Amino acid sequence: MLREVLEAFRPINDGLFVDATVGGGGHAQAILEQNAEAFLLGLDRDPHAAAVAAQRLQSFGTRARVLHARFDDIGKIVDADGRDLSGAIFDLGVSSHQLDTPQRGFSYRFDGSLDMRMDPNEPLDAATIVNTCNEDELTSLLRANADERFARRIAKSIVAQRPVESTQELAELVREAVPAPARRSGRHPAMRTFQAIRIAVNDELRLIEPALNQTIERLRPGGRIVVLSYHSGEDRIVKQVFRDAADGICVCPSTLPCVCNSEPNVRLLRRKVVRPTVEEIEANPRAASARFRAAERLPVGEA
Ligand SMILES: C[S@@+](CC[C@H](N)C(=O)[O-])C[C@H]1O[C@@H](n2cnc3c(N)ncnc32)[C@H](O)[C@@H]1O
Repeated sequence: MLREVLEAFRPINDGLFVDATVGGGGHAQAILEQNAEAFLLGLDRDPHAAAVAAQRLQSFGTRARVLHARFDDIGKIVDADGRDLSGAIFDLGVSSHQLDTPQRGFSYRFDGSLDMRMDPNEPLDAATIVNTCNEDELTSLLRANADERFARRIAKSIVAQRPVESTQELAELVREAVPAPARRSGRHPAMRTFQAIRIAVNDELRLIEPALNQTIERLRPGGRIVVLSYHSGEDRIVKQVFRDAADGICVCPSTLPCVCNSEPNVRLLRRKVVRPTVEEIEANPRAASARFRAAERLPVGEA
């Protein structure tokens, strides 16, 4: 949904833009090309992605900088930069590069070790979750992170067949655990299990709300925030944060006194979530589940 992203940022030419999930640097490059006087700070918790993006953005010289960082540190990072925050984009979840690298263990399509860490320096990997959580913990994780209908059956089967050592072992075990009709229809039966475990390994959902609130707080009036999410668990959080900011719910950190006066902080650029077109899905099937939301920071006291 590059067109929607660029459209949202088109009216703003200068200041600091943060690509909070810089990945391969595609969005970052397009923003730098469109917004000619902008500086772009790219963040990624995956050190490999950060290095790839830094390389890709090298030709922009001092207009681009990439940091290996998690986006829930965005407040500190923007404060340290010192420039006005004009725009920020969050393209949530996992990248195609991560999914397509078998040894990272993100995909049921390849054989690899059960890893799934976006940042390989972090201690918790998928093997630990799969081989140590009890049946109830696995069941709730599958339900909460992927709305998995057959969570209990899958969890039972994982516990019964441990230790599970590879992505293919896990994928096959899940395929056998679901009822036969579910095996034959739609996507691979292990897709949701892999998504749920990946979200748990990287603690993905918990980091979204603080990062979006820190960003909204720091946007200059007229500055814009864009979020692309890929499943209902992510989108529920984004929708709620945007709604609270548009309705005037206090967004100040709970440890500090309120400075926002609970007035509306943003206006929504689109009332409803935007989904990709049929052409976009044909060109990039992975974009099928994308949901676009965007908001603009209001001037203080002019809500
Ligand atoms: C969908 S990809 C982004 C692709 C990017 N927009 C591009 O144009 O190539 C998501 C990226 O966000 C990173 N990521 C996910 N959660 C993150 C977090 N909490 N902090 C920083 N980066 C994160 C992942 O490592 C991955 O590289």
